[in-house]
Amino acid sequence: MSKETVLISGGAGYIGSHTTVALVEAGYDVVVIDNFSNSEAGAIEGVEKILGRKITFEKIDTCDKDALRGVFERHQFNTVIHFAAYKAVGESMAEPLKYYQNNLVSFMNIVEMMKEFNRPSILFSSSATVYGDAETLPVTEQTPRQPATSPYGNTKQIAEDILRDCCRAYERLYGIALRYFNPIGAHPSALIGELPRGVPNNLLPFVTQTAAGIRERLSVFGNDYDTPDGTCLRDYIDVVDLAKAHVAAVDRMTAGKMDEKYEIFNVGTGSPVSVLELLTRFEAVNDLKLPYTIVGRRPGDVPAVWADTSYANKVLGWKAERPLDDTLRAAWAWEKRIRNIK
Ligand code: WQD
Repeated sequence: MSKETVLISGGAGYIGSHTTVALVEAGYDVVVIDNFSNSEAGAIEGVEKILGRKITFEKIDTCDKDALRGVFERHQFNTVIHFAAYKAVGESMAEPLKYYQNNLVSFMNIVEMMKEFNRPSILFSSSATVYGDAETLPVTEQTPRQPATSPYGNTKQIAEDILRDCCRAYERLYGIALRYFNPIGAHPSALIGELPRGVPNNLLPFVTQTAAGIRERLSVFGNDYDTPDGTCLRDYIDVVDLAKAHVAAVDRMTAGKMDEKYEIFNVGTGSPVSVLELLTRFEAVNDLKLPYTIVGRRPGDVPAVWADTSYANKVLGWKAERPLDDTLRAAWAWEKRIRNIK
């Protein structure tokens, strides 16, 4: 007996596809929409192979309000998880309008359709980037957000505020924002994973592409930070653990257990890892050598950020479990599969 149906926008994406698997495995039915602007149909095939069954998918651009209205007319669901957004920090600096239009129009369309169709629960994909260069570490959900350092980060802050204000104003609307730290890894089946378009911005996909010989050498952006080994500290959370946090949040909303109409949760491991630590662990667990060079700092990088996860642990009953070594093995297994490397 299915629990409920959940609409997943951007469900062919990296976090969205893993969350779709986790939701179905938890007994939910899903309706997945995606416009494939930063994902591929292969992700849906991978999800269906893992689940051993077809899922309901529609190719929809969430910026197209009429198309989105059709989804709400055709399908009954109380909960929406909104992933659909552009997420490349560097690109957002060069193309701010593209990011504000896509990320905010799509989100406002979702909230508007929920209000129009009286659907109660929305789970929003936010980011630890809203904390910027936090004064105190680890960051809690009460740590003040810093002014965004990129249009991408600003779209996350603005969308959080839109959700907060709409949950306050609209009686039936409840919302949860999950602030992801650094999602990494791939499903253990190696049937779904991260598929960055072009040159990867993020660390681990650049590492796996270097290991695969697609990139000649990894640049480590700075080792003169005030950290134990001089490289930046981040909270790298396994994507399967992250997906399970979404299931816990959906469970909370569908059970009507929320304490407030709008709640925020940090979703991380609570354990900081440096760039060099991640590299050396990746080499060790996958028994390979990575060519890398220490270069200058990347503008906009913060020296360190990691989560205090006690609120999510306690209130969602969720905790990151996957050891980093398993995550790094899975990331390499995924890269080898998509590159046909034995
Ligand atoms: C991590 C560390 C780099 C690449 C961003 C967004 C965040 C989320 C995750 C979208 C930093 C270093 C990286 C490389 C390197 N994105 N690095 N060489 O910047 O912490 O977070 O991505 O949801 O919202 O802000 O992640 O993986 O880019 O960088 O040395 O080739 O790895 O300097 O210290 P970041 P990242």
